[in-house]
Amino acid sequence: MTKPRKKKSKFVKPQPQIPLIVGNWKMNLDLRTSVKLARGLANTVDTYSKKCQIVVAPTFTALDQVGKEIKNSNIELCSQDVFWEAKGNFTGEVSPEQLRDLGCDWTIIGHSERRQHLGETDDMIDRKTTAALRHGFTPIICVGETREQRNAGSGELTVAYQVRSALRYVGTPLLKQKVIIAYEPVWSISPGLPCEPEDAEAMAMVIRQALIDQYEARMAYQHFSIIYGGSVSHSNVSDYLAKDEIVGALVGHDSLEVASFTKLIQVASRSKLIV
Ligand code: PGA
Repeated sequence: MTKPRKKKSKFVKPQPQIPLIVGNWKMNLDLRTSVKLARGLANTVDTYSKKCQIVVAPTFTALDQVGKEIKNSNIELCSQDVFWEAKGNFTGEVSPEQLRDLGCDWTIIGHSERRQHLGETDDMIDRKTTAALRHGFTPIICVGETREQRNAGSGELTVAYQVRSALRYVGTPLLKQKVIIAYEPVWSISPGLPCEPEDAEAMAMVIRQALIDQYEARMAYQHFSIIYGGSVSHSNVSDYLAKDEIVGALVGHDSLEVASFTKLIQVASRSKLIV
């Protein structure tokens, strides 16, 4: 008698995962201080890199030098933005290929400060995401509602819409590497107040549902990770990481000094995630 064939489970077994911590240095440091910070981090946080994936996003002018400082560490390099075209007459823009030349594999896309101050639209964010994925980058797409939108009760709709529009042209074949969605409520970015971890988790579930609607559950879980950003520090990072849907943090202010960022990473590296 032939043995009955074991049916393949439809469900993906939860996998242990280490937290992802991204330092977004914004336009806060010059070349000298960026290099100093990178050197300090390479000497300290690298010891945690088996328990925590560490990524830093310096200003464009410091990418090259920071890349050299972290080259022999496990810290990875991220740009704060990317343009969608490969080449041409686009004054002031930087293409994925040009970033790759500097050793970048990650890019932040659609940060609320760009949406707010530089007129970045959902359509631009979609083009950037598509270009980043085509060139093998891991995009960190930022979404989040304003205080007014939250108070008016349209926070969830706004965030779900932002997720859908950022991925409108991202079909499944493009999903070869992970896509990170950073939930960053605009009002929580420092000097704002951090979002309650329960509220961050509720919005992460809205984001996951938007992804499931677009890609179906298996793809939505396998190819997308959700992180939280907005006034994250060593004293609250573990509260966010304790939430099932949140596997990391996008950190601005507290990533600007070796001591504060190291402390935050140290705490994060003690968190065990199962996703
Ligand atoms: P913050 O910034 O940690 O200083 O609030 C986070 C971000 O805007 O990415």
